[in-house]
Amino acid sequence: MTSHLFSPFTLRGQTFKNRVAISPMSQYRSKDGFANDWHMVHLGRFALGGAGLVFCEATAVEERGRRTPGDLGLWDDAQIAELARINRFLAAEGAVPGVQLAHAGRKASERRPWHGETPVDGEDMSLRNEAAWTAIAPSPLVYADGWPVPQEMSLNDIADVVAAFGAAAKRSVAAGFKVVEVYAAHGFLVHQFYSPVSNQRGDGYGGSRSNRMRFAGEVAQSVRANLPDDMPLVFRLSCTDWVDGGWEAGDTVELARMLKSCGVDMIDCSSGGIGGRERPRRMQLAEAFQAPFAAQVKAEAEMDAMAVGFIWNAETAERIVADGSADMVALAREVLADPNWPLTARSVLEADAGFRHWPQEAGWWLERRDRLLNKLGLR
Ligand SMILES: Cc1cc2nc3c(=O)[nH]c(=O)nc-3n(C[C@H](O)[C@H](O)[C@H](O)COP(=O)(O)O)c2cc1C
Repeated sequence: MTSHLFSPFTLRGQTFKNRVAISPMSQYRSKDGFANDWHMVHLGRFALGGAGLVFCEATAVEERGRRTPGDLGLWDDAQIAELARINRFLAAEGAVPGVQLAHAGRKASERRPWHGETPVDGEDMSLRNEAAWTAIAPSPLVYADGWPVPQEMSLNDIADVVAAFGAAAKRSVAAGFKVVEVYAAHGFLVHQFYSPVSNQRGDGYGGSRSNRMRFAGEVAQSVRANLPDDMPLVFRLSCTDWVDGGWEAGDTVELARMLKSCGVDMIDCSSGGIGGRERPRRMQLAEAFQAPFAAQVKAEAEMDAMAVGFIWNAETAERIVADGSADMVALAREVLADPNWPLTARSVLEADAGFRHWPQEAGWWLERRDRLLNKLGLR
């Protein structure tokens, strides 16, 4: 019996062998934005683990748009070759490689999580030879207490960043990525524009909701113009800020409809992250707590949607796809614990799956060992 989660799915011209996506996970291991062997192994194990779609981490479209000094980038043609090598491997092992194009805006120049997630300063220079840089944002509003005030973007800055997204999309195609996702969530630049919490502009990019959504639309058009017609474009949104007076799920439906008219195919439904270091009171964590946003986008914006966040059970992931809440399910932390999660989830959901779907270099042995253990009565 084939589960819903492990049935193929087609988005625009791209077919995925199943509906399990590896969510983007920043590794902070790049030097000058270049991918390296770390990324090959990190991403490669998810392809061997059976995921249909493997997103690489937030990838900066310009150097000042990196969140940390270790972020990956695609602002330079020289950054294409190493990503292309990784993507050839992923594709050869049956996974579709996806990129997440990013600009951190006011969240730029930040320390890695294990260095405190605070702004880079002189200490980073002395410890790691990593210098701080000036962040840009829709408005000169700090991300959190103790953060430097970002530089308010001029209309030229806006045009430059929109063009940088397009140029990075073109490089993504050259690098062999088959899906592009724009990182428009978690307090990154595109989210900073559409959320009223971080956008107090008085021009055509601020004020009303449609003005605040304008930057997202321009980014979508710029990226779409640089992709082949059959290549899917996804936007990761923070479907709510979880704060009163902030962005709400109803706003997301409007944004999704607008993005659809700009050639966006799917919304990857996350939430939160607009500012401050505390988790907002309204944000109640529970298993698959963001999946209802995907269901709402599907129902009200009539768009394909991906569910993400606090999903680790095979049965939960199956239910989300089976009941039509989402078309795909993305996992992050659980696949760090078990990169083979798609393969093991399949054997939970499909009684007859065994090790048939595993790479034969492992599956051949595991199947025979299972038979032997059963014969010997050891299992
Ligand atoms: C190590 C790590 C790095 C992450 N980096 C990114 C990122 O680059 N872009 C992004 O959109 N989300 C990032 N996230 C968030 C995940 O993609 C995901 O949305 C979140 O962890 C919730 O899913 P989970 O409960 O399955 O971990 C990261 C999460 C982890 C654990």
